[in-house]
Amino acid sequence: MNKSLSAEQRAHRLLRAMTLHDKIALVHGVRRKAYPFKGYAGYVPPNPRLRIPALRLADGRTGVGNGAKDVTLLPAPLAAAASWDTALMNAYGRVLGREEWEKGTNVFLGPTIDIARVPEWGRAFETYGEDPYLNAQMAVAEIRGVQSQGPIANANMYLTMNQETERFRANSVVDKRTLQEIYLPPFRAAIERGDVGTIMCAYVQTNGAYSCQNPRLLQGFLRSELAFQGWVLSDWGATHSTLAAARAGLDQEMPGGRYYGAPLEKAVEDGQVSMVVLNQHVLRILVTMFRHGLFDRRQQGNWQTNALSRSHDLFARKVAAQGTVLLKNKDNILPLSLGGSIAVVGADGGATPVVEGGGSSYVVPPYVVSPLEGIRRRAGKATHFRYTDGSNLAQAARIAGAVQTVIVFADAPESEGADRPNLDLPGDQDQLISAVAAANPNTVVVLNTGGAVLMPWLRQVRAVVEAWYPGQEDGNAIAGVLFGDVDPSGKLPLTFPPTEAEVPTATPQQWPGVNGRSIFSEKLEVGYRWYDARHIRPLFPFGYGLSYTSFRLSHLRIIPNQLRSSSEWASDPRSVVARLDVTNTGHRAGAEVVQAYVAQPAANGEPPRQLAAFAKVWLNPGETRLVKLNLNCRAFSYYDAATNHWISPPGQYRILIGTSSRDLPLESEILVEPRR
Ligand code: BGC
Repeated sequence: MNKSLSAEQRAHRLLRAMTLHDKIALVHGVRRKAYPFKGYAGYVPPNPRLRIPALRLADGRTGVGNGAKDVTLLPAPLAAAASWDTALMNAYGRVLGREEWEKGTNVFLGPTIDIARVPEWGRAFETYGEDPYLNAQMAVAEIRGVQSQGPIANANMYLTMNQETERFRANSVVDKRTLQEIYLPPFRAAIERGDVGTIMCAYVQTNGAYSCQNPRLLQGFLRSELAFQGWVLSDWGATHSTLAAARAGLDQEMPGGRYYGAPLEKAVEDGQVSMVVLNQHVLRILVTMFRHGLFDRRQQGNWQTNALSRSHDLFARKVAAQGTVLLKNKDNILPLSLGGSIAVVGADGGATPVVEGGGSSYVVPPYVVSPLEGIRRRAGKATHFRYTDGSNLAQAARIAGAVQTVIVFADAPESEGADRPNLDLPGDQDQLISAVAAANPNTVVVLNTGGAVLMPWLRQVRAVVEAWYPGQEDGNAIAGVLFGDVDPSGKLPLTFPPTEAEVPTATPQQWPGVNGRSIFSEKLEVGYRWYDARHIRPLFPFGYGLSYTSFRLSHLRIIPNQLRSSSEWASDPRSVVARLDVTNTGHRAGAEVVQAYVAQPAANGEPPRQLAAFAKVWLNPGETRLVKLNLNCRAFSYYDAATNHWISPPGQYRILIGTSSRDLPLESEILVEPRR
């Protein structure tokens, strides 16, 4: 076929050559037992007559999934998001995309770009956290990275997928403004700026209609509003009908053809689904395949290819270290110095570290460096070393009392398919930490969790480090942070609440829902927006994280400092620029994440302040750098559900700048003037 034609022209030509049967074969996958090989989560066989390549869809939010061997297990997406470093997230996408492509995957089932609305959500580790802006930035970075390596990416799960409990039938009841301001922005960004090729509709229902047959979500938002040109595929088993789904805009059923195989073929023959509608589904798939080079690029690898490389191992370590968040460091107990004596305590520090989450994003690790191994190697012979798994509290306390420093490792496993029952560390880990800290005040706690946990022992310990699910390089990465080879520069991508009762989704009506309905009654007050609005002091706020050095922000300038009100902000490409100086005032090199939040006039009815821009800056001791933050006009507007427009009423909008959502020392205002 002539390659100078556009993707659309090539797809239309091909469509004309397709029989009804050819078309039907493209809009659904085949069951695993019909695969000619092992591996992949989904498969659409090739069409040799028309030279349509096969589609091989694989999981892999933290590495190639579905049981693949010889692939890198990266830290969880939440850990990567905690770096607040979009360049790192882009590289994360490149590594994933590269390994998937080498394994023969041409549709990569990630990233998960839903908002971590419910702190107990069993898939929180797969997300980028609780804020739409941070999520959007990370989504764009990762998707571009993945797609640069060959595979088409998949923004999932669309939409309001925020819990595992009753996930196959839960109905999210959520108002239009909240959808627009909180849940849609990552998808908007994935489409408009990430150029994502596919979107996965979710298991749950939104406002009474299943995602994969929801005209409001599929035709309304995706096609009319966001002009999405790619194809929508269903989550595995999330298709519930033939006619409703086909008419609402589901393009492809996965993994089999229960509704989109013979039943759809018959529905087209009977005229219940028009050929025009079927052609639209087929064209979206073909156009996307052409646009992303699937017809033209040779793919050599297959499921057996060894995708491992030393550089990917090192990258896994880098991400784990960059995403680690230092939450407490009393008397600068960290970084540790060599020599003396150390005890590592906890099963998570030894034989069974929790390095990843479970479910479809599970990756078979090529190896795992345990914290014990990593720390022992880094501490070297000069350090006297003890270890206990902590199963015997009295023994653990005895060992703790006999060394200079204790490092307790604790974890909270998470998996697709179930929410965490609460925010406690499971088992007797809280008691273990308390017992150890009572025996030795020089206690450092390292957490491996996929989201927030409560810390009843916080006052008793000197330091707390949140290392998330760190992947295969666990021990090496944490040793690097604890001994100061790496300055911790991660920031929380979600709030750590003070108690279970004070989270935004504390009522059973909100989570896990009553009679199958999960009411999003907190509306815009998701994550830190809730704590700010309710004047609740979080255990650790969104955006928070310490460093081994210190920073000063100064000389804030905002340009322009006035704007004119407009009814069409959504399409306004302008932005407001905040410039400031950041200085490393300490004695070590380190990185700071500068964050800008916008506080709208009270009458707009928005949460007290919302993240609008951020930048990560690396500085040597004494060094000062000018940082530029671009705040999109959208940050000075809200979604008016009455007119279905983003509007920006006249008034004073405050811009607050600092290093966490609760530490915003610099402030300026911007005046939005009435329309002329
Ligand atoms: C998950 C998806 C995943 C699919 C294929 C589903 O259960 O929700 O995220 O991509 O399985 O493995």
